[in-house]
Amino acid sequence: MSTTEDHDLKHRFAEYSSTTSTPDEAFALFEEARGRCPVPHTETGGGFYLVLDYEDAKAVHADAERFSNVPGIMRPVADRPQLPPLEYDAPEHKHWRSLFTEAANPQTPARIEGAVRADVARLIDAFASTGSCDLVEEFAVPIPLYALCHMLGLETARAAEFRRLAEAFIEGFNDVEKGPIAIGALMEYGNMLVAERQANPREDYLTWLGTAEFDGRPVGPMEIGLVMVGLLVAGHDTSVSGLTSCLYEVLSRPDIKQQLLDDPSLIPAAVDEALRLHPPFIGFFRRATEAVNLGGTQIPADASLQIVWAAANRDPKVFEDPEEVRLDRKPGRNRHLTFGFGAHACVGQPTARMEMRIALEEILRRLPDIHLVDPDSVKYEFLGSEAQAITKLAARFTPES
Ligand code: HEM
Repeated sequence: MSTTEDHDLKHRFAEYSSTTSTPDEAFALFEEARGRCPVPHTETGGGFYLVLDYEDAKAVHADAERFSNVPGIMRPVADRPQLPPLEYDAPEHKHWRSLFTEAANPQTPARIEGAVRADVARLIDAFASTGSCDLVEEFAVPIPLYALCHMLGLETARAAEFRRLAEAFIEGFNDVEKGPIAIGALMEYGNMLVAERQANPREDYLTWLGTAEFDGRPVGPMEIGLVMVGLLVAGHDTSVSGLTSCLYEVLSRPDIKQQLLDDPSLIPAAVDEALRLHPPFIGFFRRATEAVNLGGTQIPADASLQIVWAAANRDPKVFEDPEEVRLDRKPGRNRHLTFGFGAHACVGQPTARMEMRIALEEILRRLPDIHLVDPDSVKYEFLGSEAQAITKLAARFTPES
């Protein structure tokens, strides 16, 4: 590669931002940098380094002392409360994380799988006789919302009020005026739910949260409110986007779909491949607490870095045929970083994987000829805060009689 070409690449990275590119453009730029410039720098968003190489990305995740989550994992750093547990370092991180692992842990899928399967069946019932649907709005959006209700112990009949608050919250996330109001409303809602359980205890997470301890003292309204916000930020849109990607990858590839119809035990492998190729957030940020050399680039103390899971997950040094959906990449051995790694690794990953598996199992069983109306026109969009998703996925099928 000539010096002029390297200079041109650096120049394009200097101007790179997810607010001005499409995911396709961003992925193409990351690929160009592969092996040439593993830790490029952009001047946008206050200036940050992009960690593209898989081993570098994993090393940043593994070293929570040199790569801090404070003041935040999104850029620019907004005037809002730090989101627990993601935006805390040790030792506070441990106290916060323990409030979340009670709701989402390796036992959660077994506890709520039956309820999730019933939700999925009900959602399919609602459109099965029509012959068409939008798989995002009518399927992928409600499934994780109901699953969150089951995790908390909230009746799904109340999912609509939860969803209204969640939508206002997501809409206002980057808005200086609407944002704090929406966060406040959600925190208040969480406290109201816990107060209901304090009056009428049940065997559920909301009841537990009202009696939990935080760093050796009873949990307070601020912590309860922020747990509600944290669960929603971490668990809802991520799962909607992940589930949509699973549906898109399977339904746009007839060979893969046929293999799953013939052998549903391959569904978990397909889920992990869709997540590998399309992380719902392309990457979150860290702050270097000291000067450090990463992939040959000298990073100064206090610099911002984005761990770009989207690029690391297609690193050919780790994934053979990285652009392909390969069902022989077994779930347990698929080393993608879509759920993070290390101290902050996703506590909801077993539950998210279960939701996607059930959704695929049921839709392929009930509507085996389901297909996308126009797969070639489907596009990923950046939705702010490094989130990427497909927002509409029209499908047709033979109506159920
Ligand atoms: C496809 C769905 C999901 C994806 C792709 C995803 C992805 C991630 C990633 C990448 C992280 C680590 C971020 C970092 O290190 O900067 C994370 C953390 C977290 N996730 Fe998920 N997540 C998903 C679903 C869920 C669900 C369903 C829940 C629970 C309801 C959840 C709860 C959390 C929590 C609480 C953390 C913070 C852990 C900590 O800071 O210690 N996630 N998630």
